Amino acid sequence: KPGKPGRSRLLFTPVAPQPADTDSVGVPAGYRWDTIVRWGDPILPGAPGFDASDQTQESAEGQFGYNCDYLDIIETNSKGTRALLVANHEYTNEEIMFPPGTDPETVVRVALASHGMSVVELRRARRGDAWSYIPGAPKNRRITAETPFTFDGPVRGSALLRTAEDPRGVTVRGTLNNCAGGTTPWGTVLSGEENFNQYFLAAGTDVRESRYGLGPTQDSRGWRNVDERFDATSEGYRNEPHRFGWIVEVDPTDPSSTPVKHTAMGRFKHEGANVIVNDDGHVVAYMGDDERFDYVYRFVSRKKLRKGNSPGARRHNLGLLSEGDLSVAKFIGDGLEDGVSDGIGRWLPLTRAGRSMVAGMSLEEVLVFTRLAADKAGATKMDRPEDVEPNLVNGHIYVACTNNTDRGKAGKEGPTEPNPRNANKDGHVVEMIPHKGDHTLERFRWNLLLICGDPGTAGTYFGGYEGPVSPISCPDNVAFDSVGNLWVSTDGQPSSTSRCDALFKVPVAGPQRGRVQQFLSVPAGAETCGPVVRDTDGEGSVFVSVQHPGDGGTWESPTSFFPDYVTGSAGRGEFKGPRPSVIQVRRA
Ligand code: FEO
Ligand code: CA
Ligand code: CA
Ligand code: CA
Repeated sequence: KPGKPGRSRLLFTPVAPQPADTDSVGVPAGYRWDTIVRWGDPILPGAPGFDASDQTQESAEGQFGYNCDYLDIIETNSKGTRALLVANHEYTNEEIMFPPGTDPETVVRVALASHGMSVVELRRARRGDAWSYIPGAPKNRRITAETPFTFDGPVRGSALLRTAEDPRGVTVRGTLNNCAGGTTPWGTVLSGEENFNQYFLAAGTDVRESRYGLGPTQDSRGWRNVDERFDATSEGYRNEPHRFGWIVEVDPTDPSSTPVKHTAMGRFKHEGANVIVNDDGHVVAYMGDDERFDYVYRFVSRKKLRKGNSPGARRHNLGLLSEGDLSVAKFIGDGLEDGVSDGIGRWLPLTRAGRSMVAGMSLEEVLVFTRLAADKAGATKMDRPEDVEPNLVNGHIYVACTNNTDRGKAGKEGPTEPNPRNANKDGHVVEMIPHKGDHTLERFRWNLLLICGDPGTAGTYFGGYEGPVSPISCPDNVAFDSVGNLWVSTDGQPSSTSRCDALFKVPVAGPQRGRVQQFLSVPAGAETCGPVVRDTDGEGSVFVSVQHPGDGGTWESPTSFFPDYVTGSAGRGEFKGPRPSVIQVRRA
């Protein structure tokens, strides 16, 4: 449930968009930004300082990983002076990370260690100050592509999960391509395993592989040359790709805990998962499958949240996502004669009470090959649903459909009311309104809050707001401030509009509903990820992960120098290129 709604302290004059090659962080007048933690910063006790020209698996395992994505700053004391930073590390940009000629096996081993997640303790003197990270702090943790995870839920132990290394199908090494996520009311972090197909060589001859993009041409990283399990054509590892594409749950307060992959929540290219507690206590998670023409999903826990922090309540709540019903969204338009993209919708059941609801598929098959189950159920093909997140102030759910340049192409589905544009390069944001405010019912209403693009361009829509708005393209991650304003970060503006990616505030209620206002820009090549907005209790800060700064450049020819802007006078061995980092923006 939301905290005390107060007046948002984050008042600002919108910043102008910046051209795509601008290598700086743009913030509103009166605000400043600081770096909290960067790729390569030592996290664990004994980890060496960052030295880009001498990277090893061991050093990377003790340092903050690459390409930070999902982010949360979880305060751990009442004064607001201690916190846990939790971040995903989605993937690696080897061409920027390593000097040419680096031993290929070293490249793979460092890349494996630079994927995953980080937990880092933070401190500051008082609320509103900049946070600093504490190297070697007790709760600091690195989770990598080698960290043991346990499977739970209906597929645990299934033949579909068994490999030569794990003949019982109950544990797996590592998590991969962790994109967005969400923090649960019981204090854990959920993280989505997204484009896991790219790490595997697979035959791709079975639709159960090809529907997930697994095939012989996907494996550009050559990880199979270092670890056989990434070769899914090898007899003992045919099922290894089934062991990725899940929602994982991590307890950031217990560095010795074994993280879990929740099979009850289905397997697809999970952008992330965000939880709301329904009025009756059931926990409901909303999830997107980020692929062109893929789906929006909902998971309803069988058990109810137990209140309080007793060890018993905690144990109970840690099992909430292990058992429940999975469904997929069907959006039905009511016609465009009314001048707006809107209509009703239904959650189509895929599993219920521990049984498959899809003809011809077992429960295990529905959960491992969830995309095929949703195809059969007749779900609505969306324009790349990324973050799907409930707004705790109004109880509505917001879906960022980032873009879909294939809509309307030969052989592909054309425009529909919920995805109204052909060759959709700018994306849109869907608002879903649960029937009677109950997140467990089958029915909902929906409308498009935003049809993104440059204001004035045909087909754009800004929630009905008639005044000036900032141009916005490719919505990806969403967050909410304390009064329920939507904050949207983007991924892809450099390609779609030749502008840097950015973060925007969008009121969803009142006369300013739909008024898009740009809060910041990230530097050249970067994507804005994991926004966290803190605007109560004397706090006025926005945090973002700056992912893949300098994308498109190389070690020898960097196109960004964020965040340190080290110039030609750097000492020997000092890295002059970009470093993915978490930054904090606050009042100057
Ligand atoms: Fe990793 Fe869908 O963004
Ligand atoms: Ca309509
Ligand atoms: Ca994303
Ligand atoms: Ca993205």
